[in-house]
Amino acid sequence: MGIRRPPSSVQEKILLYLAAATASVLLSPAAAAVAYDNKAIIINGQRKILISGSIHYPRSTPAMWPDLIQKAKDGGLDVIQTYVFWNGHEPSPGEYYFEDRYDLVRFVKLVQGAGLYVNLRIGPYICAEWNFGGFPVWLKYVPGIQFRTDNGPFKAAMVNFTAKIVSLMKSERLLEWQGGPIILSQIENEFGPLEYDQGEPAKAYAAWAANMAVGLDTGVPWIMCKEDDAPDPIINTWNGFYGDYFYPNKPYKPTMWTEVWTAWFTGFGDPVPHRPVEDLAFSIAKFIQKGGSYFNYYMYHGGTNFGRTAGGPFIATSYDYDAPIDEFGLLRQPKWGHLRDLHRAIKLCETALVSGDPVVTLLGSSQESHVFKSNSGDCAAFLANYDTMSYVRVTFNEVRYGLPPWSISILPDCKTTVFNTARVGDQTNLMRMGPVGHFSWQSYNDDTNFYDDKSFTTVGLLEQLNVTRDTTDYLWYRTFVIISEDESFFKDGEYPVLTVMSAGHSLNVFVNGQLSGNAYGGVQDPRLTYSGRVKLWAGSNTISILSASVGLPNVGEHFETWNVGVLGPVTLSGLNEGRRDLTWQQWTYQIGLKGEALSLHTLSGSSAVEWGEAYPKQPLNWYKAFFNEPEGSDPLALDMSSMGKGQIWINGQSIGRYWPAYTANGNCNWCDYRGEYDEKKCQTNCGEPSQRWYHVPRSWLNPTGNLLVVFEEWGGDPTGISMVAKTVESVCAYISEWQPSLINWRTKDYKKPKIHLVCEQGKKIASIKFASFGTPQGVCGSYSEGSCHAHKSYDVFEKRCVGSQSCSVSVVPDVFGGDPCSGVMKAAAVEAICV
Ligand SMILES: *[C@@H]1O[C@H](CO)[C@@H](O)[C@H](O)[C@H]1NC(C)=O
Ligand SMILES: *[C@@H]1O[C@H](CO)[C@@H](O)[C@H](O)[C@H]1NC(C)=O
Repeated sequence: MGIRRPPSSVQEKILLYLAAATASVLLSPAAAAVAYDNKAIIINGQRKILISGSIHYPRSTPAMWPDLIQKAKDGGLDVIQTYVFWNGHEPSPGEYYFEDRYDLVRFVKLVQGAGLYVNLRIGPYICAEWNFGGFPVWLKYVPGIQFRTDNGPFKAAMVNFTAKIVSLMKSERLLEWQGGPIILSQIENEFGPLEYDQGEPAKAYAAWAANMAVGLDTGVPWIMCKEDDAPDPIINTWNGFYGDYFYPNKPYKPTMWTEVWTAWFTGFGDPVPHRPVEDLAFSIAKFIQKGGSYFNYYMYHGGTNFGRTAGGPFIATSYDYDAPIDEFGLLRQPKWGHLRDLHRAIKLCETALVSGDPVVTLLGSSQESHVFKSNSGDCAAFLANYDTMSYVRVTFNEVRYGLPPWSISILPDCKTTVFNTARVGDQTNLMRMGPVGHFSWQSYNDDTNFYDDKSFTTVGLLEQLNVTRDTTDYLWYRTFVIISEDESFFKDGEYPVLTVMSAGHSLNVFVNGQLSGNAYGGVQDPRLTYSGRVKLWAGSNTISILSASVGLPNVGEHFETWNVGVLGPVTLSGLNEGRRDLTWQQWTYQIGLKGEALSLHTLSGSSAVEWGEAYPKQPLNWYKAFFNEPEGSDPLALDMSSMGKGQIWINGQSIGRYWPAYTANGNCNWCDYRGEYDEKKCQTNCGEPSQRWYHVPRSWLNPTGNLLVVFEEWGGDPTGISMVAKTVESVCAYISEWQPSLINWRTKDYKKPKIHLVCEQGKKIASIKFASFGTPQGVCGSYSEGSCHAHKSYDVFEKRCVGSQSCSVSVVPDVFGGDPCSGVMKAAAVEAICV
């Protein structure tokens, strides 16, 4: 079935509304060039298997975009999928911003220039671990608003922004029928679960959102992800670690997986999740073999939550996501390469895959074949072994095939295994964070008593966001406490206990200008209670609480009800009178820090204060240093491991929040690709900072005289900060003689397994650190020779590889001067240094 647009009065009304609300003329697609049926998305009359990857434009810099897109193309992608970031585009009502990292049109045109399609997930609720789920914070203060439900003010704002984006795309001619790259777009995001919770108003809202979107007449299909009742003609799609149990809600819609999770996000205080590529490839092959025709990596490049864009609370600044392209734009190997090989194998099957449903045959207790055939005689087979422990041999079309545990082999001609999800043939890259510079710091201590014309005093405790409107992370809550000299604690030395209850996310308590302590919540529960003895003196004492938000929530219901900050009670116990409640006394509020008011993070602002040469480790310190750009083109990062919590700016641009003092608490057990994956299965960094390195985009640097400014809340040691460059320390490969997944894609030679080594652009193989054809052992970085080793192993690689950016060596005895141990299954392992 194609896309039908039955006229309805609701849609007509929306169109009229939009015609009035938007200045641009609504064009009408002459004939939709993108359609769909039960098998696939159809572009210009052809059913397509579409391989897609998420790259979020504000999570990298425009200077990085062309390279990221090219790497996505080289990795075998057809489509780039991105959310649209409402709060980046409409920072205040009716004022739009489409520049720099938010230059959506430029991003879409770059994707088009690379010959790829775009799936534009407008949302405009996007979740995405992005501040406030992509909603502008001002929306929370529109009178009468209720988010994501049947609410007039919310719907009016949503239709405005959605129409704005659609009309921008149309006016730039970016939709497929206009010759542009956009083939799909999404309205709302993972709304199904809320509908289940809320019932009627949510159902009415979902139906309205669907109708509104369709009424925008984009001429390309709309999708709704995790929305089982998405009305026609909208396609409901799936998000998850596995997609093989998903079916669309109508038999005439294609099976689409909008988010194949490549791992998971990192939270401050949480370990870093990883997903083995063997399992990722397995989940995709399993989806394709059941008839899926569109899948999208979430994320293909995760990138960085620059500035204060991280959602939360407690989402880390790095949004690496263990994606095939890492946060810095480097290939994550072997993940990227193994998936590229998977994509090639799937594409070899495309004609058969889109021709009809598979014939499924049981080959063993937990083994199956899925066979696709086209009328013209194409045949493609997927042989699956679901067993989590054992390697098995199956017979298919009277031929024996070996299947590793938890794996699927792809046979594009129903005969030849060109790929197995568990046999990784591509090289591993061993990465290194090498120091390339240190800093000479100057410091300035912020003022716990700072106030300016934004300061005000009122009775009781105020919700933080309502006061700051998220213009800063920081809000000062200050009050006075009169203490009589008769208090018995002056004699017994048992100081009173101050207790502060906060909705989140972290706070520092100062008494008479001295730090008393801090407290913070976590990803699971942002609320916190500070409780500590405070050194009060007789007379008037100042209690200053610096409350900090650490990213606004991005997921959940009723965004209008969420709170941040010290909501109380605040009490002082251990006085002669017992407990004194401070909640309802006079509190003075100050939005932001003195250093923020002075713009100390900018070149012009930083001269507003007298900076000291010494840098005592104390809370609320600003640090500044000048530096020259490190040579070369390797991506850069700041190693912040010696620091506590704060923010970083370079030349006035915010690198983001840092919080290495929040170490990861969790389970980092050994990880096996076999068996069901979830985000807690394969983690690293337990007991270490959740995030140590903070990406510094090269395009933000000048050759000399760059200003680095750090604001430290806790009292870390800036002398430990260094600039590091991320490089590929060495490239490794381990290939077995009989590896069936190895295929020379140029010559279509399936027989000879080969080692391919490639250095990053502009680098060459300088030396061979290890080479052995025989029975080598270990992993990249620590290979060792086994009992069988061909003596020419090093010679071969040195001759073929050293001095080149890439090289190939066949893993056959002849190449290594004969068989070093006949009758034994051999492999070649090599580690090469790229410089
Ligand atoms: C929608 O956009 C129009 C035109 O820019 C504006 O006048 C109106 O206030 C907007 N409405 C909402 C609810 O944002
Ligand atoms: C937000 O602040 C305004 C005053 O600026 C106040 O009238 C309103 O009640 C506050 N709302 C909440 C939810 O705290």
